[in-house]
Amino acid sequence: MTSQQPLPAFPDGFLWGVSTSAFQIEGAPAEDGRGPSAWDAFVREPGRIKDGSDATVATDHYHRWPEDIALLRELGVGAYRFSISWPRVLPSGSGRVNGPGLDFYDRLVDALCEAGIRPAPTLFHWDTPLALEEGGGWLRRETAQRFADYAEVVAARLGDRVAHWITLNEPAELTLLGYGLGVHAPGERLLFDALPAAHHQLLGHGLAVRALRAHGACSIGIANSHGPVQPLSDSAADTGAADFYDTLSNRLFADPLLLGRYPDPGLAALLPGPVDEDLKLISEPLDWYGVNYYQPTLVGADGSAGDFAGIDIPAELPFALHRMPDRERTGSGWAVVPEGLTETLRTLRERYGERLPPVVITENGCAYPERTEDTRRIAFLDAHLRALHAALAEGADVRGYFVWSLLDNFEWAEGCTQRFGLVHVDYTTLERTPKDSFHWLRHALRGNRR
Ligand code: BGC
Repeated sequence: MTSQQPLPAFPDGFLWGVSTSAFQIEGAPAEDGRGPSAWDAFVREPGRIKDGSDATVATDHYHRWPEDIALLRELGVGAYRFSISWPRVLPSGSGRVNGPGLDFYDRLVDALCEAGIRPAPTLFHWDTPLALEEGGGWLRRETAQRFADYAEVVAARLGDRVAHWITLNEPAELTLLGYGLGVHAPGERLLFDALPAAHHQLLGHGLAVRALRAHGACSIGIANSHGPVQPLSDSAADTGAADFYDTLSNRLFADPLLLGRYPDPGLAALLPGPVDEDLKLISEPLDWYGVNYYQPTLVGADGSAGDFAGIDIPAELPFALHRMPDRERTGSGWAVVPEGLTETLRTLRERYGERLPPVVITENGCAYPERTEDTRRIAFLDAHLRALHAALAEGADVRGYFVWSLLDNFEWAEGCTQRFGLVHVDYTTLERTPKDSFHWLRHALRGNRR
């Protein structure tokens, strides 16, 4: 049930925001010179997207952005996290810059500044330019350098107005779901042979940080997914499987970034290139660390329940994902575990100590089907904000919180079947209607602006 109590006060200067990503909202895939991305190709492959939708229109944000900025202003957020489409800026991933593509983000950033909302762009939210993907994508070391070149182009144009930069979104998901299991673009099922994609994204991050700083950027982070991993039982097999999954999902990216080493020598041995040299660049201190939190994961040695986020884990992998029992679930079947956010922040402090910079929650949210009377989303957000407040009381240094997502949007392999928005989008008329959670959050933010 939704608490009737007002939310506790968050610290002065706490940054409130909402997040989106380019491929999920923009549409207009071939307009003004945009090149194709790996996702444009993937959505066309039969059977890849649950409802057969293809994001050609998505929410039509490319044309309706002024309306979306008006919604942000009405909501009263201090910042907006969106992503820049790499193939809109560099249609083939490198070389020729597409002026009109860059102009789009220039206008967006100007309009956000005018509205008093800090722009917080993510440079890469999974939409690899198709030309680069066809050459091997993130499995190739060269892609890291191409990414840094792209970061440089964007920083040169927008750097004078961008408040906060995010290099990558959830490199763990791209590695595991995109290259390891093939349920996201580019649809490769390489299992452990996907690991070079992890290293090259991290290298791309390090090179991009350097390029952004050369253009004067002074607030740079990354958005990594994190969540507690629980063993199915206390048997050695289940705890071993859970620990291994924890390494893959929570430490594979955070350890190199924050400790300058990979968490497991066995995994590190599978990585290509001068890894030790690369790690020096990868672990250049960040200004802040972004955490995307959705739910914990229950892991056993065998027997995938098959219904965890619909992902089928092949028997060759040494872990199986299970459905967490006795938990309320979101519309997408994810477990609602607010205290998992407090625990996640505690674990990060315990593992990384002084090496952990201030944290920003760069995504947290839920999918529910209700058109506008989304009481369950209000309860979800209320509970997670209280859990976040509990983490602050324990000493976590968290500086901001971004809801995923402003709008209902294209939910990757789930197509348009899962609605994460504070604002309902009618996919026929594209009309936007703020849900009850939007009004609730607006009210809560007013109470917190001191
Ligand atoms: C991603 C978003 C996605 C959300 C909900 C995150 O993994 O960054 O793009 O829509 O979770 O699944």
